[in-house]
Amino acid sequence: MNILILGSGGREHALAWAVKQNPKCGRLIVAPGNAGTAAIAWNAELDINDGEAVAAFAQEQTVDFVIIGPEAPLAAGVADALRAAGILCFGPSAAAAELEASKAFTKAICDAAGAPTAAYAHFTDAAAARAYVEERGAPIVIKADGLAAGKGVTVAMTLEEALAAVDDMFGGAHGSAGAEVVIEEFMEGEEASFFVLCDGEDALPVGTAQDHKRVGDGDTGPNTGGMGAYSPAPVLTDDIAQRTMDEIVRPTLREMAKRGTPYQGVLYVGLMIKDGAPRLVEYNVRFGDPECQVLMMRLGGQALDLLHAAAEGRLAEAQVNWADDHAITVVMAANGYPGAYEKGSVICGLEAVEQNSKEMVFHAGTASKDGAIIATGGRVLNVTARGASLSEAHTRAYALVDAIDWPEGFCRRDIGWRAL
Ligand code: AMP
Ligand code: GLY
Repeated sequence: MNILILGSGGREHALAWAVKQNPKCGRLIVAPGNAGTAAIAWNAELDINDGEAVAAFAQEQTVDFVIIGPEAPLAAGVADALRAAGILCFGPSAAAAELEASKAFTKAICDAAGAPTAAYAHFTDAAAARAYVEERGAPIVIKADGLAAGKGVTVAMTLEEALAAVDDMFGGAHGSAGAEVVIEEFMEGEEASFFVLCDGEDALPVGTAQDHKRVGDGDTGPNTGGMGAYSPAPVLTDDIAQRTMDEIVRPTLREMAKRGTPYQGVLYVGLMIKDGAPRLVEYNVRFGDPECQVLMMRLGGQALDLLHAAAEGRLAEAQVNWADDHAITVVMAANGYPGAYEKGSVICGLEAVEQNSKEMVFHAGTASKDGAIIATGGRVLNVTARGASLSEAHTRAYALVDAIDWPEGFCRRDIGWRAL
């Protein structure tokens, strides 16, 4: 099977690494990819948000299966263009990708499906939103409706903060994503993520994870795309996983199918867990990054069979062969991230790092230049390890981190603290 993976982050390197281990994987192409994917696949230059261009490229290269990594091409309808061209692909249609692209859409689906989530109201003008915030008081959560690269949410602990966030959003701080605003009840509890493959009808859980959003040790400092993750998430017990499937995931899938927009792809279910009960925080229509890295580390080559079964509508007969293990990934980022950072610094020591089915350095923002690996992004490397226990995986991952020589980068030293 010739396979094309769209994206260039650590998530896509991890997907490529897992898929490549499956003997069914023929030629592997990643577009646009990074220095990590270049070592195991062909990195192709391609505008991955242009569905026609992706479909034409896939046909030209006799690609049998396309795996779409990030949300932008999904929201742009790349999966629709591929299916229209008769090319098998993993990832939802643009209509189904609304589950991530519009928070108001997701809330409406939850209402119709009876899925537990925060109480909310939806606004298109600032005065009404301000009045609602004043009436409800703080803490309260203000969300830009559309895709805002993870920056469209303010968890306001005071009324002043909440009103300032409303003004910001209607003032254009998030462009068109903020022209509509969802205001939500603040939910207390512990957050965890649940990943479910979906084929439009059936659903198959493929793992749980927790990430660390804040840049600094002890969960301090500004929010980032994620500084590390581990799997499984102990808070997401079998019982809560079952409840999540019964109360949230399956009703959502039934509602999506009923509306004529069945969901196919991975559903990333962001949960708030309190007193043994899960409530939905958000859906994403893609694997998390860096959560995907720990899931792929645990799944290995079977990931290809599972993604392929989802794309072909065969999940009813699929099953996951679980290894009873733990995985952790530590993000190494460029100094300054998530603020301004320099690009182009050289990363040394990678060639000496042991890389195998238990220890992998997945690349995110990297490129090769004159035989060296250089940093080209904010989040640059995902140092990933697995072990019989989380603490074994943790020790292994930080030993790898310490073998990498990159003074222009940093990482958190406490990934996994909550579970350890
Ligand atoms: P979202 O983009 O919707 O996932 O929101 C980003 C983050 O904001 C989440 O991961 C939570 O930490 C927090 N958050 C979002 N909605 C709520 C809520 N209703 N109550 C408490 N925290 C929330
Ligand atoms: N790590 C969070 C996300 O991928 O959205």
